[in-house]
Amino acid sequence: MAAAALLLLFAVSFAFSSENLVSAERSFCIDYKNNCFLKDGKPFQYISGSIHYSRVPRYYWKDRLVKMYMAGLNAVQVYVPWNFHEPVHGVYNFTGDRDLEYFLSLANQTGLLVILRPGPYICAEWEMGGLPAWLLQKPNIVLRSADTDYLEAVNNWLAILLPKIKPWLYINGGNIITVQVENEYGSYFACDYNYMRHLRTMFRFFLGEDVILFTTDGNTDKEMTCGTLDGLYATVDFGTDTNISDAFNRQRRYEPRGPLVNSEFYTGWLDHWGDRHAVVDAQKVSRVLGEMLAMGANVNMYMFEGGTNFGYWNGADHDTRFRSVITSYDYDAPLTEAGDPTEKLLAMRDVIKLFREVPSGPMPPATPKFAYGFVTLKKVGNINGVLDTISPLGPVTSKYPLMFEEMKQYYGFMLYRTTLPQDLSEPTPLISPLNGVHDRAYVSVNGVYQGLLERDAVLVMNVTGQQGDILDILVENMGRVNFGSKINDYKGLMSNLILGKDALTDWKIYPLDIDGAISSGWPHSNQKSVSSKQAALSAGPAVYMGTLQPNGLAWDTFLKLKEWTKGQVWINGVNLGRYWPARGPQQTLYVPGPLLSTSLPNNITLLELEAAPAHLRVIFMDWPQLNITAGKS
Ligand SMILES: *[C@@H]1O[C@H](CO)[C@@H](O)[C@H](O)[C@H]1NC(C)=O
Ligand SMILES: *[C@@H]1O[C@H](CO)[C@@H](O)[C@H](O)[C@H]1NC(C)=O
Ligand SMILES: *[C@@H]1O[C@H](CO)[C@@H](O)[C@H](O)[C@H]1NC(C)=O
Ligand SMILES: *[C@@H]1O[C@H](CO)[C@@H](O)[C@H](O)[C@H]1NC(C)=O
Ligand SMILES: *[C@@H]1O[C@H](CO)[C@@H](O)[C@H](O)[C@H]1NC(C)=O
Ligand SMILES: *[C@@H]1O[C@H](CO)[C@@H](O)[C@H](O)[C@H]1NC(C)=O
Repeated sequence: MAAAALLLLFAVSFAFSSENLVSAERSFCIDYKNNCFLKDGKPFQYISGSIHYSRVPRYYWKDRLVKMYMAGLNAVQVYVPWNFHEPVHGVYNFTGDRDLEYFLSLANQTGLLVILRPGPYICAEWEMGGLPAWLLQKPNIVLRSADTDYLEAVNNWLAILLPKIKPWLYINGGNIITVQVENEYGSYFACDYNYMRHLRTMFRFFLGEDVILFTTDGNTDKEMTCGTLDGLYATVDFGTDTNISDAFNRQRRYEPRGPLVNSEFYTGWLDHWGDRHAVVDAQKVSRVLGEMLAMGANVNMYMFEGGTNFGYWNGADHDTRFRSVITSYDYDAPLTEAGDPTEKLLAMRDVIKLFREVPSGPMPPATPKFAYGFVTLKKVGNINGVLDTISPLGPVTSKYPLMFEEMKQYYGFMLYRTTLPQDLSEPTPLISPLNGVHDRAYVSVNGVYQGLLERDAVLVMNVTGQQGDILDILVENMGRVNFGSKINDYKGLMSNLILGKDALTDWKIYPLDIDGAISSGWPHSNQKSVSSKQAALSAGPAVYMGTLQPNGLAWDTFLKLKEWTKGQVWINGVNLGRYWPARGPQQTLYVPGPLLSTSLPNNITLLELEAAPAHLRVIFMDWPQLNITAGKS
């Protein structure tokens, strides 16, 4: 009784005093009466841009944020990729390029608020939509649902992540104004309200009652119905080809009052290998931005700075067929992949100026680029010749093929080896009858390349050889599907391969840790020369190395792999990503200057999967080439 009275007294006196304190207190909330956000009690409209710290080297975070601030933005929207922070179940990494809190503090110092999107699923054209591939060890897991295995992993992750976020909420003295729950959940088949309710409970438990939680969905009734939930403010996303008033009217059906929000206004678009480079017109983007801002809407531009899918972090789509996202995430965004301001940025800033005061002073210029020129590489060896180094654990034997996930190797490449069961003097079909190669298989017999199989595209090839010959199948994971119903995207050989009429069996399966070997100095530290027989073979998976002599500069540059076919490239131990000039549209890889040494030889390593050119040269240029697709002009 006494306690209740005290509590009442406290509540009353708090209500009285808060009236006067409102300007001194930090608050961020929704004004349902006036259809806007209120920051510290005053109407607030955000003009935000997306940037993903996982796609920009830490060294450049500040540079990109300052340019976003100078463009007139007052906020940035940021995804947290779960798989980037929990690469192995129960092992967390928040340091270096994964230091989320450092990124938040830089944004705060720069004067930018943050709209945080911690998932757990994020899409983002990122490997598996940000979900860790180790989740797939449970073969029947239903991702993004109330499945108990999935929820257990989610609970553990959110219990690590959200307490780190809490002090960064605006209302707690930080810069995070709003937090998104899940991501475009309405476009997922499961439509599981129990899952969304569970996430709402978790987010409230760890972040408190006062922060604005919201959802973002594509602008159709089905998506809005499955993606929205009471207590989570419903927002929409759409690009330049959508009728703005129709889209916001749809948001109004779910949020009759409150601010209008476009959480992803597309400034450009992603590319897949083999597709034409996507471009979105700068004048159109700025005109539509102006129309939304004039309605008082809050807009986040997706992307403002796209960056790069370094390493194996690109995602993939699987609508009618599997299509992998390219290494560059330039996105035709207002800041380029290398963080340079574009005409599009200046056009958008001119529009923003009409609605809020943009910081005075010049836009920081493009970072300097340098054309370091040609480097001639030499062959280190075919994959089978370097197996001891890149597969220190050695093989696992299995009658039938095992998937990457069963081998607990989630990314990159694995080698499947068996022997030819009989003489094949005539070309004999090697078949992937169930389309079970995820995603590409490079086939050699006794070290001689024979050709490849490709998911959804090439399901049969010919092999010749003799009984007992070694059949090597190097399988490449091209990035897991990040969108739609096929995100349980297992990798490796999903099913038996058939040679002639019989299923191949009795495999030795080598997990490959090429990244581990390279980061400990190989192959540059090891001058073992390659046999002349191996050096003569230019086709099939092989490792090449070279050095770029230091010249005192560590400027950004673009690596062109002209006439190379497809592979992966590392510089000074850092995995720059995939190259595939034979398909395009991306022809050059972004090399951030800080990776280069000004005084030591810079070590270049290539894993070329199909065929190296006779010249064995690569070239460092001072401009990017992202728009040349084979067979499409
Ligand atoms: C954590 O991530 C950073 C940045 O990618 C990396 O340099 C570091 O080695 C990682 N730490 C561990 C323990 O793996
Ligand atoms: C954010 O920046 C403001 C202004 O520079 C500063 O006063 C504040 O301490 C910073 N907050 C955090 C959490 O770093
Ligand atoms: C958008 O749709 C509305 C009807 O829903 C129509 O009146 C309006 O003209 C359209 N706007 C544009 C730019 O097409
Ligand atoms: C395999 O070889 C046979 C016989 O030479 C040929 O007819 C067939 O087109 C080849 N198939 C492929 C996929 O190359
Ligand atoms: C390149 O590799 C050599 C040999 O291992 C090593 O001495 C050198 O430091 C490496 N260069 C850089 C920039 O790490
Ligand atoms: C490719 O992009 C460059 C600028 O980055 C541009 O000058 C060129 O016209 C584009 N080419 C095509 C075929 O679109």
